[in-house]
Amino acid sequence: MPRNIAVLIGSLRKRSYCRMLAHALEPLAADRLQLSIIEIGGLPLYNQDIEGDATPPTWTMFRNRIRQAEGVLFITPEFNRSVPAVLKNAVDVGSRPYGQSVWDKKPAAIITISPGAMGGFGANHHLRQSLVFLNMPTVQQPEAYVGGAAELFDEAGRLKREDTAQFLRGVLDEFAVWIERHAPTTQASS
Ligand SMILES: Cc1cc2nc3c(=O)[nH]c(=O)nc-3n(C[C@H](O)[C@H](O)[C@H](O)COP(=O)(O)O)c2cc1C
Repeated sequence: MPRNIAVLIGSLRKRSYCRMLAHALEPLAADRLQLSIIEIGGLPLYNQDIEGDATPPTWTMFRNRIRQAEGVLFITPEFNRSVPAVLKNAVDVGSRPYGQSVWDKKPAAIITISPGAMGGFGANHHLRQSLVFLNMPTVQQPEAYVGGAAELFDEAGRLKREDTAQFLRGVLDEFAVWIERHAPTTQASS
């Protein structure tokens, strides 16, 4: 059975390269990882004052979806050398209420992608900083900073180059191994 992976996308744009990448990964991962995009654009900004009786249902649904996942794949652009606010908000929402973080011990991988040459290196490492605190074992190698995003996809959003697909397959291979190593007891019961 493929592992059930929550994919979080750090962009709200319709023609987002991150979203194209997420879809392009699906066939590359199919036999080992079932990738499901969890939408984060509708999550209200985190505010501790509304936890409890007024907790937004979208926060609760999001937290439950992450709890059920056996791993989390973050695919994000870099905004001003850091993590886009929409993704940081989702990370914050999942981390609370205090002591009930849905992230704890959940295996993770990060792919950053940018039209620029550095492939979102800054965002990748700022996100890693949060994941260390949240106790998420996160794939270290291969590092995945995907540059030149504007040249990677055809009109239909498919990857144009076999060497890019090969690299990404390798990232997913390592993530699949990583999940077995770090979460052998988190297989969701059916
Ligand atoms: C507010 C903002 C800040 C950005 N800052 C960076 C940056 O620091 N580094 C970078 O490589 N690209 C930066 N970009 C360009 C994004 O990488 C580019 O818009 C990318 O296509 C966004 O990802 P998406 O295609 O998934 O929406 C920025 C874009 C925006 C809108």
